[in-house]
Amino acid sequence: MRSHILGTGAYVPKQVLTNVDLEGLVETSDSWIVERTGIRERRKAAPGEACSDLGIQAAQLALQAAHLQADDLDLIVLATCTGDSPLPSTASLIQYRLGATSAAALDISAACCGFVYALSVADAYIRSGVYRHVLVIGSEVMSSITDWTDRNTCVLFGDGAGAAVLGPTEEDRGLLSVHLHADGRLSDLICVPGGGSTYPVSESMLAERLQYVKMRGNETFKIAVKTMEDAVREALDAQNMKVSDVDFLLPHQANIRILKAVAQRLGLSMEQVILNLDRFGNTSAASIPLALDEAVRAGQIRPGCLIVLAAFGAGLTWASGVIRW
Ligand code: UT7
Repeated sequence: MRSHILGTGAYVPKQVLTNVDLEGLVETSDSWIVERTGIRERRKAAPGEACSDLGIQAAQLALQAAHLQADDLDLIVLATCTGDSPLPSTASLIQYRLGATSAAALDISAACCGFVYALSVADAYIRSGVYRHVLVIGSEVMSSITDWTDRNTCVLFGDGAGAAVLGPTEEDRGLLSVHLHADGRLSDLICVPGGGSTYPVSESMLAERLQYVKMRGNETFKIAVKTMEDAVREALDAQNMKVSDVDFLLPHQANIRILKAVAQRLGLSMEQVILNLDRFGNTSAASIPLALDEAVRAGQIRPGCLIVLAAFGAGLTWASGVIRW
């Protein structure tokens, strides 16, 4: 038995923040951002619009597409690094507000790899027969941890959510395999230092702006290219498949230059790389399910397609997965 995706959904906040808007906040330019990242605009949540609000919208659309009701769900796994609050889990809030009364709920913290990590949890429960229907969500309000005075990071991130409902299948399709990795030695490459138990919220912690994301972008860039390429090859090797078997690479949307380098090293054309980074920026755990939902609804991903997911992010974490749609 395998797990497969029964339906997908996505949601982005209404407010569009363009590169020109950012020119008014920090010393940057539309041309620098487009050239160095490929991002043209991103979405920003309204004041008070939280991770659960975005996640619920995506989840409802995924349930509709799967022709299921909230009370058909056995488990909700939410991947996020920007939950509504430290306690309780944001998945619990979504469980309640969706009316998924039979479902267990948990959050997963694996940053930009969160959705692939969450898929692997859903897959393990479904394949083992413990749960039948699992809702996996990636939802992020990155604007809540963005330092709008730091041009190194504030141009990169966006808010959004994507979701997928998984169920069992005995057909020769679905999630064929998932591979997860982490190397905590590189935990300081991308981090939010404050707000946890190391530096609890305090006046001095806020004054040092430790509540915001910090990133050593250039070092991350180089590692991202290598780990994403390795993760894709590992995924294909595990299936005795070759790059020529792949219809689409569905990567974490961080930087167009990273994705071009990965595609080139693998021998994939950019037409095979599913992209939406120009419109949404880096939405962390939401980026893969957001792009997946768009590609499915646009008819780009069709039954039988072979898709390889590849992600990397804070932790450092990296991950891949192979899906026969
Ligand atoms: O999903 C989480 C994983 N994170 C990532 O994938 C991020 C990976 N890294 C990147 O995408 C790129 O490293 C960045 C887009 C963050 C930066 O691009 P880069 O080509 O690596 O630039 P850099 O950090 O080497 O900086 C080059 C120059 C610097 O100026 P100096 O020191 O050479 O004078 C920066 O201060 O560009 C400057 N710079 C900017 N200039 C205009 C940095 N940010 C900006 C900006 N606008 N927004």
